[in-house]
Amino acid sequence: MYTVKQIKDTFLNYFEKNGHKIIDGASIVPENDPTLLFINAGMAPMKKVFTGEQEPQAKRMCNVQNCIRTIDIDSIGDRHHLSSFYMLGSWSIGDYFKEGAIHYAFELLTKGFNIPKEKLYVTVFSGDEKRGIPADNESIEHWKKNGIPESHIIRCGFEDNFWRIGGDHDAGPCGPCTEMFYDTGAEHGANYEETGIFDDKNRYIEIWNAGVFMEYYQDENGNYTKLKMKSVDTGSGLERMIMTLNGLESAYDTEVFLPIIEYLQNNSKNPVLESLRIIADHVRTSIFILNAGVEPSNVKRGYVLRRLIRRAIRHMRTIGLEDSKIPELLMLTMDNMKKIDLEPKWNYSKNEIVDKFMAEFAKFSKSLEQGVKAFNDYVKDENNIKGGKLDSKIAFKLFDTFGFPLEITKELASEKGLTVDEKEFNELFEKHREISKTEGTFKSGLADHSEETIKLHTATHLLQAGLRHVLGNHVYQRGSNITPERLRFDFNFERKMTPEEVKEVENFVNKAISDAIPVVREEMSLEDAKKTGAIGLFTDKYGDRVSVYTIGNISKELCSGPHVNNTSELKHFRILKEESSSSGVRRIKAVVEN
Ligand code: SER
Repeated sequence: MYTVKQIKDTFLNYFEKNGHKIIDGASIVPENDPTLLFINAGMAPMKKVFTGEQEPQAKRMCNVQNCIRTIDIDSIGDRHHLSSFYMLGSWSIGDYFKEGAIHYAFELLTKGFNIPKEKLYVTVFSGDEKRGIPADNESIEHWKKNGIPESHIIRCGFEDNFWRIGGDHDAGPCGPCTEMFYDTGAEHGANYEETGIFDDKNRYIEIWNAGVFMEYYQDENGNYTKLKMKSVDTGSGLERMIMTLNGLESAYDTEVFLPIIEYLQNNSKNPVLESLRIIADHVRTSIFILNAGVEPSNVKRGYVLRRLIRRAIRHMRTIGLEDSKIPELLMLTMDNMKKIDLEPKWNYSKNEIVDKFMAEFAKFSKSLEQGVKAFNDYVKDENNIKGGKLDSKIAFKLFDTFGFPLEITKELASEKGLTVDEKEFNELFEKHREISKTEGTFKSGLADHSEETIKLHTATHLLQAGLRHVLGNHVYQRGSNITPERLRFDFNFERKMTPEEVKEVENFVNKAISDAIPVVREEMSLEDAKKTGAIGLFTDKYGDRVSVYTIGNISKELCSGPHVNNTSELKHFRILKEESSSSGVRRIKAVVEN
């Protein structure tokens, strides 16, 4: 049996011996690259090296890079799709090109890893007329020279064998690629030579992108120009490699996942294999993302993390894992990373990571149950179902009210034989996001969407209500700035508040906290929002639809959120300071504390 460590060492030693410098992997959160959510390939942190804008550390390099790819999130649970993996990558920057890359890939697989060459198949780029990119006949010649017969060479189009970092609108270096596949045998599907069908899902598993031949640059309009120099970018998923080399059925049977799968099996009442795999995968990826300092939220990286954690929690419920076992499961996952020598550089202690995960668990576990109940009620009403499809407005409602990522709704729907229109859901989601963005630009003043900041944001609404209650309804917000540490709230008022008034406002807010009032969000037209008597900055810049947050009968504000679900989450509110801000404007600094 190969171990992870042997595979890493064999790979790194081979390329080092051939003049490649071993470089460190980068954090999974890209530095200075707002176009990319997560590092998704070994080359991603080096985009500028390929374009010649940045000097490489060496002309030949290699490393082991942690990557996140959630694009295939629906396929996770099958044999080898994962939301995160380690990529074995090697690069030639303006040095050797197709001949060298193909030689190294072939030699490493057949000599370094002793794979019989009969087991190997390769794909090459067949050209794309529309984009003006010719077929890669040169690679075919090099494969043949190395001993791969014509019958093991498959020609593929742009979708399969042209590698770029994203879609049509993502600018970056790119080029045709040639990939190596391993034949896992007749028990996994039809033979290519006999049927002409290249089953790259089951029988033939991609184990090495032997070379992206980086010679083009794609701009954000999808136009291609030639790069100044020709480079090579290769990559192989380590978790797939260890599965393949050991002849295992799935990536979950390898030392990367097996102890976690076994733990789940031993601790669950209903060990559904797909759920076990989804939990093991999502927990591992969540740990990587939490360790990179990302907090769960409804936007960008935070939302990827939230979806992974929440979907994992739902599957924990499916298999009947007790909640009290979750911290142990996370600890085991982190301990195993260390044991097999495949761990990130830790930025947080293991306890801190468990706490962050459990905080999201606490937020979601209650609404999961309520949401499942609501879902069951919705599907009983036939108005919500058309032609086997759940109304996407319901899917959006489940997201908006109960925090259900689409994946969860899709899974619940499929258990009832229903589908969800993803496109329609995404349109509603984008519309909602647009509203939040437009409003946010004008008003929110939130430094981030961490849990502390969100609590302080709700505290700001209660504070404004308290000030209006104590000082009069002519008092309004003039400015707001919230960091995870404190809130700062400016309001119009002519004089210094007395200590009694300050105390009274503080007590008002603390009473609202101890009354445990739900915070309710509604979406409506600007006109309707005005009619409800909501306060806020009414401007036509908001766009058509706005959201209104209501806290019992004490506060109603036009606001983009986010907020806590219930005032009790704030625990306790304390005013630190009341001071002058500018003429006729006072400033309060306050905190919430446990
Ligand atoms: N960037 C290429 C890929 O991701 C080679 O690593 O497949």
